[in-house]
Amino acid sequence: MVDRYAVIGNPVAHSKSPWIHAQFARQTGQAIEYGVILAPIGGFSRAVAEFRAAGGLGANITLPFKQEAFRLASRTSERARAAQAANTLVLDGDALFGDNTDGAGLIGDLRRNLGFDLAGKRVLLMGSGGAAQGVVSPLLESRPARLAIANRTAQRALVLAQRFAPAAGGGYAEFAGEQFDLVINATSAGLSEELPAVAKAIFARGALAYDMVYGRDTPFLRLAREAGAAASDGLGMLVEQAAESFLLWRGVRPDTAPVLAALRGA
Ligand code: ATR
Repeated sequence: MVDRYAVIGNPVAHSKSPWIHAQFARQTGQAIEYGVILAPIGGFSRAVAEFRAAGGLGANITLPFKQEAFRLASRTSERARAAQAANTLVLDGDALFGDNTDGAGLIGDLRRNLGFDLAGKRVLLMGSGGAAQGVVSPLLESRPARLAIANRTAQRALVLAQRFAPAAGGGYAEFAGEQFDLVINATSAGLSEELPAVAKAIFARGALAYDMVYGRDTPFLRLAREAGAAASDGLGMLVEQAAESFLLWRGVRPDTAPVLAALRGA
């Protein structure tokens, strides 16, 4: 029987993960099958159990199940604990290992695909939900000069920053007088065509604006371009986090560049 993997989420029908992993498998000569599992809300652990019983070896977890996947895991990686969420599961007999490759995906996209070196840079992270929480620790490990976390609900950013010293947290107004070399949008504002309360002046000369959302232009990316900053969506992060999951499951890291180029071209 061919080794089975899947992405589990709700909704999940439009996930690009099956296509991405099929490219990785072909490129590395690995024989795997990668499917899509729509789990009902409230039915996540059952979906995992059924997939395990059907011979599933690993799964990617997407919204809204990443926190639940983390809690379900019998063993977790340090980076999953930092994020309090798992986007990758390894199903090994009765054991369930929870990992999180989202942060590595973001850092990998910045470094590898966008040529952005975080060391010594001033970084503003917008948002304090699951998406933001998953990348704070990897960002700090890349030694920025400053990491500020801004959120509409200032208290959430304060709490997040307290967990991850020396990050600073607060409302958007808190950082309005500063300039940043990298501004990351980890909010869901763009999905409803909204813009977090940042002004054009937030972008330093030569700054990069990064929106974790992909497949659409957001008000944030438009603002950044108007300010003269470089702008990137989160498609590269999607491909890079997938490559990290593939590495975990199969022991080989695929080349992400041709896969990202094909997705961009499509
Ligand atoms: P996720 O797991 O995708 O991060 P979430 O936990 O619902 O989802 O968090 C959504 C994030 O987007 C939050 O930081 C939210 O800000 P609040 O904590 O104040 O709710 C942010 N967000 C959503 N819509 C926004 C908007 N229109 N402007 C600014 N921030 C917004």
